[in-house]
Formats: sequence, structure tokens, C-alpha cells
Amino acid sequence: MKKYLINTYGCQMNVHESEKIAGVLKDFGYEETTDVNEADCVVFNTCCIREGAEQKIFGNVGALKKLKQKKKDLIVAVLGCMTQQKTSAENLKKRFPWIDIIIGTFNSDIFSTYFQEALNKRKTFEVLDKELEVMENTKFFRTSGYNAWVNIMYGCNNFCSYCIVPYVRGRERSRKSEDIIKEVKGLIAEGYKKITLLGQNVNSYGNDKQDELSFAQLCKEICKLDGDFRLSFMTSHPKDFSDELIDVIASEKKMGKYVHLPVQSGNNEILTAMNRKYTIEKYEGIIKKLREKVPDVVLTSDFIVGFPGETEEQFMDTYSLVERVRYNSIFAFIYSKRRGTVAEKMEGHIALEEKRRRVNLLLDLQHKITAEKAGEFVGKKLEVIISKEKEEWIGVTESGLKIWLKECDKEMLTYQTVVVLSNNKNKLIGEIVS
Ligand code: SAH
Ligand code: SF4
Ligand code: F3S
Repeated sequence: MKKYLINTYGCQMNVHESEKIAGVLKDFGYEETTDVNEADCVVFNTCCIREGAEQKIFGNVGALKKLKQKKKDLIVAVLGCMTQQKTSAENLKKRFPWIDIIIGTFNSDIFSTYFQEALNKRKTFEVLDKELEVMENTKFFRTSGYNAWVNIMYGCNNFCSYCIVPYVRGRERSRKSEDIIKEVKGLIAEGYKKITLLGQNVNSYGNDKQDELSFAQLCKEICKLDGDFRLSFMTSHPKDFSDELIDVIASEKKMGKYVHLPVQSGNNEILTAMNRKYTIEKYEGIIKKLREKVPDVVLTSDFIVGFPGETEEQFMDTYSLVERVRYNSIFAFIYSKRRGTVAEKMEGHIALEEKRRRVNLLLDLQHKITAEKAGEFVGKKLEVIISKEKEEWIGVTESGLKIWLKECDKEMLTYQTVVVLSNNKNKLIGEIVS
């Protein structure tokens, strides 16, 4: 049997898109392998959110040259966000003319057409300028255990001044709620226990359509479906995070009590320069309301440090925000200049060493808070799904926190309540109470 290997870079959106490519390759009769030397088809699903991601991909694609020379029938495909940028796609073609398929994000839905061409020894280089219609009834080969990713929308309209995503993913296009609900129903029937709705800004779901449900209403409708599952979403934008959604998270048992709410900076001038369209006061207001209505909510966030012109004081505002909010965990990134974005042309780009110093300060602070927070779980009751890791029983919370269980008489993949008994160097130990 022929084999494929898919290298995925970037966000959950890309992970899910790779499941679509895997679905296509399965249809062609290919099987998955993790050994590149065994592969008859190697796919790179790329990301360009930061410069580092792009450089790594160029290196990894280049490293395939020897195998391609040895194995003439090997099909190599590069697609995704990086190749949606015409200059990157052309660069790649020039440097590695032996690649069989180079396409962007706008035409990845018709990958099967290009793959058939490659089987017929015809190369494809096609980066479209415009999005195609949203396609339904896609077959996925899912790779994320009991969790199923479900796209509710594509693209982004926000144009945060540092970000490349709107340029490589196009404008917002929502799927019809009836199509989403039908897909989720099918997934629950197949036994998936966790559904994660995906979009760059899920809170603006439906804004591009007439008479469509709001995001909060969509969540509510999904929670009404029968079955023992939990619903999460990724990612929300603070500018559109509604009270209605907070109420749904609080009142619906099936809503995961976990919110990833990227703030990027703790300083209002930087937030304006970033074109984020909220103030830090509004952001902290959302956190306050969330914590009032959902007391045990797990909160995480994204940060960019060293945005052009960021002063030491402005960075310290971010530092204080992390001290005040006490997130469960954070992702902090060094600002990376992206071609064609508004921030690229801004004054005051900051030296890499200084950006590194700031990001390390922020991460050190968060490590301390994360450790303290782990201690705060002792004595608390948490909802987990029962799973196993290396023959040991564990309970995993909606946010991915693991509780090691001494014993377990419950079935795998059922939702249970555990109480945390102790915290052994950030390894939480607990027992089932329900
Ligand atoms: N749509 C999501 C974010 C997607 S990108 C949102 O708006 O929250 C994921 C994260 O990458 C962002 O939250 C941001 O923190 C980071 N990021 C985006 N562009 C970046 C850049 N040019 N440099 C550094 N980090 C960046
Ligand atoms: Fe990028 Fe902003 Fe869109 Fe998120 S909301 S994808 S950060 S432009
Ligand atoms: Fe990267 Fe594209 Fe996601 S740029 S972060 S893979 S949307």
C-alpha cells in the first residue's frame, strides 16, 4: 500500500485542514506513515504567522531533495498560509523546482484534482487571488483522539496591524449553522466526546450572512443535542465577546468552562496601534464578568511583546496585566515583522535581544503563577474525561489539565468529577467522586 506523511505547521485551523488532506489521500488508497523514507507522498501544510515558521519550512522542504532524487515517484506538495503569499510560493518554486504541487489556502479544497495531476506526472503551481465558495460534505481523516475540530468560519476581517492572517486566509466566510449542526450531530453519533469550534474570531460568526444565528445562539443549539460531549471554541476576540456568550458558558452544562481570550498587550496605546479595537478596561471587564458567572473558568491568552515603538513602561503594563489577571497559562510571542502588514512600516522596530529579554520576563512571571495556580487546585472538584496515559489512569479537564488517578472504576472516555488531593511538583493527583 502507498503511504503519505503530512507535516503540519501553525494553528488548529491548519491541523484540521491536514485532516482534510489526509481524507483525500485515504480516498486515493494511501495510508499514513511517520517515517519519511517510507512515504510515497509528503505534504507540507505551512504557516507564516512569524518569520521563524517560514524559515523552518524552507529548511525542511529542502531536506527532502535527496529522497526525491532517489525515489522518482515521490509526490511532494506544499500548501497553506505560507504559499498563499505569491512571493513565498515563487521563491519556493525557484529554489526547489522538483516540488510537484504548490498551492495556497484558497484552493486547498480541490487538492484531489491537483493530486490526480501529480499522479499523471503533471506539476501544479496555482495560487489564487480570491477565495472559492465554502465547500460542504468534506471527508476528514481525524487525528485528534476524542476531540473533533469543526470549522464554523474561514478567514478574518480584523486586520490587526501586525498580522498576516487576513492576507492569506481572505475575508470572513461563515458556514451555515444547519450544516455545522448536522456535522456535529454526526460526530457525536460517531463517539466524539469533545467538539471544538474553529474560527479566527468565532465571535463574529454569522456577520457575513443574513438571518444567521449569533455565535452564542449556535453554541446553545449545539448544547441541546443529545449525547455526553463538551463544546469548546477557538479563538475569541475580546472586541466581540458578548454577555450573551458569557451567559451561555455559565448556564449550559455542555459548554467547556475554558476560554482562550488573546489580549496581545496590556497598554491602550499599543492596543490602538495594533488595531485591536478594545481597551484594557473593556478587556478586564469581560474577565471580571466571566469569573463572576463562571467561577472556576480556566483562562489563557496570547501576548505579543516588542511591538514597534513599545516602550519599557508600555511593556510593564503588559507585565502588570498578567500579574492582575493570573491566567492559567499564556502564550507569549516576540513580535515578528510580516510583509505587507501595516506594522511593517511603523517606526521604532525593537532589537531582537530586547524583545527576548521582555518575553523571558513575562514567561518567568507566568511560570510562577502557573505553579501557584496548580497548588490552588488542591481540594477543588473538577470535571474531567477519563483517559489513560502509559497504562496510568488520568482525568483530563476541558482545558487539557491532567489529574493522575490512583484508581478508576469508570469507563474510558466518560465525563466524571474528580477531587484534587495533592500537587506533587505540578503533577496533580486526585480521585473520582461521582
Ligand atoms: N485569530 C486569533 C489569533 C491567530 S494568530 C486572534 O485574533 O486571537 C495566533 C497568535 O499569534 C496571535 O494571537 C498573536 O499573539 C500571534 N501573532 C500573530 N501575528 C504575529 C506577529 N506578526 N508576530 C508575533 N506574533 C504574532
Ligand atoms: Fe490576526 Fe487579528 Fe485576525 Fe486574529 S483577529 S487572525 S490576530 S488579524
Ligand atoms: Fe499560521 Fe495560517 Fe494558522 S499563518 S497560525 S497556519 S491561519
